[in-house]
Amino acid sequence: EAPDQVSAQRANPVVVAHRGASGYAPENTLAAVDAADALGIDWVENDVHRSRDGVLVVLHDTDLKRTTDVEEVFPGRAPWAVKDFTAAELAKLDAGSWFGEQFTGARIPTLTQFLHRLERNRQKLLLEIKSPATYPGIERDIIRTLGRSGWLDRSHVRDRLVIQSFGADSVKTVHTLRPDITTGFLGTPAVADLPSYAAFTDQINPSYATIGSDYVAAVQRLKGPHGKRLRVNTWTVNKAADAVKARDYGVDGIITNFPDVVRDATS
Ligand code: G3P
Ligand code: CA
Repeated sequence: EAPDQVSAQRANPVVVAHRGASGYAPENTLAAVDAADALGIDWVENDVHRSRDGVLVVLHDTDLKRTTDVEEVFPGRAPWAVKDFTAAELAKLDAGSWFGEQFTGARIPTLTQFLHRLERNRQKLLLEIKSPATYPGIERDIIRTLGRSGWLDRSHVRDRLVIQSFGADSVKTVHTLRPDITTGFLGTPAVADLPSYAAFTDQINPSYATIGSDYVAAVQRLKGPHGKRLRVNTWTVNKAADAVKARDYGVDGIITNFPDVVRDATS
């Protein structure tokens, strides 16, 4: 092959199971992590919140209505915000049956439980700090929990952990507290603003609907705080045809509810 053809070849994008393999199991549960593992997918994205008594828990929404039976278990507690429930109360909720009867009894995992399961499966974590303004100081709590679970040793930090958020200040805080951790900003900053993001984030992770090859290339031209080129992981890409387009845009990773579909389409 001519050298220009060789250099034009790209690695297949990394496939990330969104909220676990959430097309096949209830999102952000241990079952969704295991479903990703069963498909041979090692990167898992999840979302973290904090209970009333300060325990970090894994789920997507800031309230419990959509993915649990909270209305039946705690009928008088509307609007059922996660932050208003203790960890013991959250542990009583069923977070599986909304998705399918066979998942009845699945729980909202604590971040600690979640990390242990990922560790058992030898998986990797793209952790999203959800709604950081709702949980002042959550970055420090997350770092403490990661440390206690063994996720801040050199090999985890180097190969198995990324922390991302839609909140730029939250990403900056993580970078300031632990400059060794790989960070991601969720969104599509204007190209002119990208250099200021590159001071504190290693990844720009935009919605698929907002990007094309030019944007991906503009991000990848910059170097992040660790001296490596910025990476792009796009979400949430569930159709094979879109996954092929994302790959052709040159993204580094694709975040998807159906990781097997995306892997098969892009490899
Ligand atoms: O990882 C990106 C993606 O998860 C962001 O959107 O709403 O699914 O958390 P959302
Ligand atoms: Ca997310």
